[in-house]
Amino acid sequence: MKKTSILMVCLGNICRSPVAEGVLRSMLPAEEFEIDSAGTGGHHTGESPDERSQQVARNNGVEISHLRARKIKATDLQAFDYIFVMDKNNYQDVHSLCSSSNEFEKIHFLRDGLSQKKGLELSDPYYGTKKDFEKMYQQIQEACLQIVKELKK
Ligand code: 4NP
Repeated sequence: MKKTSILMVCLGNICRSPVAEGVLRSMLPAEEFEIDSAGTGGHHTGESPDERSQQVARNNGVEISHLRARKIKATDLQAFDYIFVMDKNNYQDVHSLCSSSNEFEKIHFLRDGLSQKKGLELSDPYYGTKKDFEKMYQQIQEACLQIVKELKK
């Protein structure tokens, strides 16, 4: 059976989306779900997740140090079943890669989950404090729990 595939997308693929990838992966069976992440920008390609993201994830039992940043490509829009973006800039950037309405419909805001369409954003913590990374983690965890519930429906 083909796995359900989910792509988490932020700008750099070093702060928010690797945490979202790790958290959602920890909540879903690997035999049924393939989870990946990417950035809309290529500035950090090949890099490990930001130390602050690694730390907050590790403090919560999620290991993400092995992940490496990559830039999203147009073929990801065909390949993945669901694409979760973190903010409006990510949404616009991913939208611009779409070549069909089917691809466009795959894009959701992470904090909206699958059924809301509010455009709830997950703020970029890159220039923020440790506290901002902790808040980011809580919001990612909450969103992923909601997504897991919706996927099971
Ligand atoms: P991310 O955070 O999109 O959550 O990975 C950022 C990482 C790097 C930069 C901005 C946001 N940057 O400007 O280099």
